[in-house]
Amino acid sequence: MQARLVETAAEKVEADALILPILEGQTHVPKEAAALDKRLKGAIEQLLKEREFRGKFMELVPIHNLNTLPSRWTVLVGVGRVEQLDMVRLRNALQAAGQTLRRRGHRRLAVVLPKEVTGRAETADLARAATEGIGLSNFDTGSLKTRHENAVAPIESLSIIGLDGDKAASAAVKDAIVLAEATNRIRDWVNTPANAFTPSVFAEKVKEAARATGLDLKVLDMDDMRRLKMGALLAVARGSDEPAKMIILRYAGGRKGAPTLALVGKGITFDSGGISIKPSLNMEKMKSDMGGGAAVVGAMLAIAELKPKINVIGIVPTTENMPSGKAIKPGDVVTGSGGKTIEIINTDAEGRLVLSDGITYAVNEGATHIVDIATLTGSIARTLGPLAIGAFGNDPSLMDLVRRAADLAGERVWELPTWADYDGLIESEIADIKNSTVPWAGATTAALFLREFVDGRPWVHLDIAGSAWQDAPELRTVPKGPTGSGVRVMAHLAQLLADR
Ligand code: BES
Ligand code: MN
Ligand code: ZN
Repeated sequence: MQARLVETAAEKVEADALILPILEGQTHVPKEAAALDKRLKGAIEQLLKEREFRGKFMELVPIHNLNTLPSRWTVLVGVGRVEQLDMVRLRNALQAAGQTLRRRGHRRLAVVLPKEVTGRAETADLARAATEGIGLSNFDTGSLKTRHENAVAPIESLSIIGLDGDKAASAAVKDAIVLAEATNRIRDWVNTPANAFTPSVFAEKVKEAARATGLDLKVLDMDDMRRLKMGALLAVARGSDEPAKMIILRYAGGRKGAPTLALVGKGITFDSGGISIKPSLNMEKMKSDMGGGAAVVGAMLAIAELKPKINVIGIVPTTENMPSGKAIKPGDVVTGSGGKTIEIINTDAEGRLVLSDGITYAVNEGATHIVDIATLTGSIARTLGPLAIGAFGNDPSLMDLVRRAADLAGERVWELPTWADYDGLIESEIADIKNSTVPWAGATTAALFLREFVDGRPWVHLDIAGSAWQDAPELRTVPKGPTGSGVRVMAHLAQLLADR
């Protein structure tokens, strides 16, 4: 998709559809659309005055322009109450509208941002939100349908009207296209069924995607893992007939002494639970348990294009978690590559096991900052639902940067505590630590387990078990299916860390 800021007036722009965001309760036609509405004989004004369009969040009314304008349709999109309008909500409203319009066959879109909306944020943030909102609407979940009605051509171009095209805003548009496309690519991976997305396929896909990006790729196989004594990752892999892989991507953009950021993502291509097998209801969703690993790859692909002056290593331990005669059992004790012994209480707490070897690898590679990301716990999904990432950490200044990155990304991140009072949760009777415990504080327990491996370095853990997949129609956020949670946060974090 192409996108640019234009100075063309709304009544002059050529487009298949021109989107006009309207606030809830707004009864006047925005000044930027006054001349346009004149050509429409006051249709917009009438809809607003007579309250036939109320501007409710995600309300959508298309008006045919009947050849009175160079654009074919004017589409009113509700963006809700002014005091609640932030860049997350603007992105989401535009993504939903963009998806509807794409499915109606529109390929050239324009968005008019009226003063009522632009007053809510800086120009660059608005430019990013508009570009990503529409860019993200190009993702479609039905790529495996043979008769695919919704697969009509993607949106090709976006004109953004109403922003002064300063340098920062134009740069934001360029970056936003890269970020939306990287996000959509990995949403497609997360959507792909586990029979078509094994650890080996994952590694192949990364190889294809990384070609010609300048990223350096290394894929460890199981012999390498044995040599490196990755007993935790190998323990999870035992039950599966599919060989495990460890995917390592390197971006070298930093000068000597620059920080090295490690991004470690959970790549479980299917989580059956193993011997502690999951109930069948919703088990099919566990094809998305590689969402963290995919997000790391998405972020690395974006970073390769955005070129921040920093070094970044992306590390994705990937395997299936399956039951079999060879599978690990509750009560087994395994030794990870960092040398710690781990008692396995529950084989369904496998994410933290594979991540522990990924994090140890990051430490051995000299990472100065570590961010891990994983669809780790049902606990975080129950707490925050599908609309926010849960964050845990050991370093307030890195956590602050993550929060700033999330603001830029238009993703919601919420920090949860890791007070020392919780420490007992991972203590084992017979080994150094155990992988599961009481039925409460599940997300915190997982975070404390991971913290054992970061060697005291600045670290943030992102639990995306809720946010990676949208399946709650009662929440008007992003469309159903994989969201690409975390890709943009990590890419922005690399930029912020480089500029610090
Ligand atoms: N992959 C799951 C977490 C998950 C749950 C992701 C729901 C997305 C939606 C993870 O491996 C898991 O099974 N976690 C268990 C841990 C427990 C056994 C300690 C959980 O959270 O229930
Ligand atoms: Mn599990
Ligand atoms: Zn899992």
